[in-house]
Amino acid sequence: MKVIWNNEIVERSEVKIDMEDRGYQFADGVYDVVRAYNGKFFTLNEHVDRLFSSAEKIEMALPFTKEELKQLLSKLIQENNIDTGNVYMQLTRGIGIPRNHSYPDSELIPPVFTATTTIVPRDQTKMDQGITAFIVPDMRWLRCDIKSISLLGNIMAKHEAHKKGCDEAILHRDGVVTECSSSNAWMIKNDTIYTHPDGNLILPGITKIMLLKVARKAGIPVKEEVFTIKDLEEADEVFASSTTIEAMPITHINGNPVGQGKRGPVVEKLQQLYVEAVEEQCGQIR
Ligand SMILES: Cc1ncc(COP(=O)(O)O)c(C=O)c1O
Repeated sequence: MKVIWNNEIVERSEVKIDMEDRGYQFADGVYDVVRAYNGKFFTLNEHVDRLFSSAEKIEMALPFTKEELKQLLSKLIQENNIDTGNVYMQLTRGIGIPRNHSYPDSELIPPVFTATTTIVPRDQTKMDQGITAFIVPDMRWLRCDIKSISLLGNIMAKHEAHKKGCDEAILHRDGVVTECSSSNAWMIKNDTIYTHPDGNLILPGITKIMLLKVARKAGIPVKEEVFTIKDLEEADEVFASSTTIEAMPITHINGNPVGQGKRGPVVEKLQQLYVEAVEEQCGQIR
């Protein structure tokens, strides 16, 4: 298995990362995940832009240009024969000795970049059947717009949902739904789609941007407006979106059915529109 380590493609076993790396010590770093279909990246520019933007927000610079990174990523999926799968990219601040919360000048220590690939076929059955969710308080920090590798708030929420036998956690702050533990949250009421506006409380999902674009183009009413956990009880449809799950129906919340308790027509339409957008960039999905 080949990986990217800084600006080279190497065997995974060759990678050496210092235990004093600030990514390991402080979760001082950022990441992004981009998906490939048919061996071609979908929305690569958007993901690379977001990685650079996350890095800039924590005063880090990547050790290459956006173009160089895109070339490296394309070479990586070719070398690993990735047809449909995900590429995980991570940038950490590098070695921090002596240990100090405050970070040193970025010119003094080189950051560490890695990227790995995983083959993940589309799970059409799951996308047809949907998933279940559990509502959990959003205990994360107030810069959720940064795709930070510090994910304790997210993983604890998802674990809570799993303990309740559910697939995903829907997060709320004082009753207002922000997003899910690893996806954006959406609700449909009277044929209008609602999702939380971008800002510091959610990750600006690339899938969210694409879904908003295709929905608006198709004339489906969309509002980037907050909604509450009370609204969820009366929603016609609810779904989650992310690079890896696309538009995923949520059929049950806290054990209660959403609408009819199965995928609804608006989510189904969005799934079709999303596939069309993927096919425009990556060719027909088999
Ligand atoms: C907390 C959170 N929100 C939203 C998303 C969806 O982002 P994207 O559509 O760019 O994958 C993710 C994806 O990992 C996430 O972790």
